[in-house]
Amino acid sequence: MPIYLDHHATTPVDPRVVDAMLPYFTQKFGNPGSTHVYGEQAREAVEAARETIARAIGAKPSEIVFTSGATESNNLAIRGVAERKRRRGDHLVSVKTEHPAVLDPLAQLAARGYEVTLLDVEPHGSPLAGMVSEEHFAESLRDETCLVSVMLANNEIGAVQPMAAISDDCKQYGVLLHSDATQAVGKLPVDVNELGVDLMSFTAHKLHGPKGVGALYMRRRDPVVRLQPQSIGGGQEQNRRSGTLNVPGIVGFAEAVRLAVESLDTEMARMAALRNRLASELLGALPGAQLVGPELDAEYVDGPLRLPNNLNVMFPGTDGEALMLAMPELAVSSGAACSSKSDEPSHVLQALGLSPDEARSCLRFGLGRYTTSDEIDHAVQLVTAAVSKVGSLMS
Ligand SMILES: Cc1ncc(COP(=O)(O)O)c(C=O)c1O
Repeated sequence: MPIYLDHHATTPVDPRVVDAMLPYFTQKFGNPGSTHVYGEQAREAVEAARETIARAIGAKPSEIVFTSGATESNNLAIRGVAERKRRRGDHLVSVKTEHPAVLDPLAQLAARGYEVTLLDVEPHGSPLAGMVSEEHFAESLRDETCLVSVMLANNEIGAVQPMAAISDDCKQYGVLLHSDATQAVGKLPVDVNELGVDLMSFTAHKLHGPKGVGALYMRRRDPVVRLQPQSIGGGQEQNRRSGTLNVPGIVGFAEAVRLAVESLDTEMARMAALRNRLASELLGALPGAQLVGPELDAEYVDGPLRLPNNLNVMFPGTDGEALMLAMPELAVSSGAACSSKSDEPSHVLQALGLSPDEARSCLRFGLGRYTTSDEIDHAVQLVTAAVSKVGSLMS
């Protein structure tokens, strides 16, 4: 199998997570809604998982709503709050580089008569490429703004947004702040109170947990977040999201979060070191290549400006798809997994000001728990050879 450097798309499940999940498929298979002992067993497991996950992000267990993943969490947060708060106002603010699981619900709301402001980000070439300007952000807020949604870390260029500053502005206007933290949880320290977010989406499969399970954090004090449920029926999750809970998935999600938090400091340093080596060797070997996204080692007071496991590089005069075909031994991505099937160049890269051709000549690298130093060395050789081959074919 090829070397896997596409951990922003998904991650392999940690075998310890699989072990934790297995009993919940067979012996402990109960429905947490049932009153008998099978149900009780399942319910206890779900509540223990809720507690672990809540503690990991500085939240209370009652503030965690389990969902099928970050797409559902984003939809629930955005549509749910916009529908519930329409009387306060129908203006929403977000950013051009968000994931489609945020942009598409916003577009749907716009089609229903809401007003949506999508902010620009700092352009390619700036050390802050991909960041929202705090000044522009503050200017976008109005009395009738009902929700702001800004992702914590970008899935293509790893840009980490200045959430605490954004939150301060939101508080001044009394506006709720949602953040898609899918790429950040398990990769960076994430605390809902330090970030000042009122709602936050995340998912298990980006942190060596199973696919199809995620969570939405919803603040329950100062302020109490209320939303219109998007899935109604059995009234699970305190009527916030109906549907029988994915018990094995939830147990695995909690174990994945626990493991990620346990090794967070060492893994952040290890990943940043490997990523920096990958970057410096690629940029050194290929003089035309350019770093895309924020500077690698820049820091806010409270953490890095870029995900430690993310790298995005432009290889001018090449095409990302052709590069990937020229190096089948390496699994990387020429855009986000959700959009790389479409022919459209990445909207994130275009928001940085890259032309469609430039955006098509970028590769995204995402490192993970099992990425080794040897794999990085090998990846450098594969990419360098592929760029020379494709570059000479295209020139
Ligand atoms: C930033 C971001 N948001 C949302 C999602 C969607 O997550 P899920 O696959 O759990 O629905 C992804 C993953 O593709 C992502 O990277």
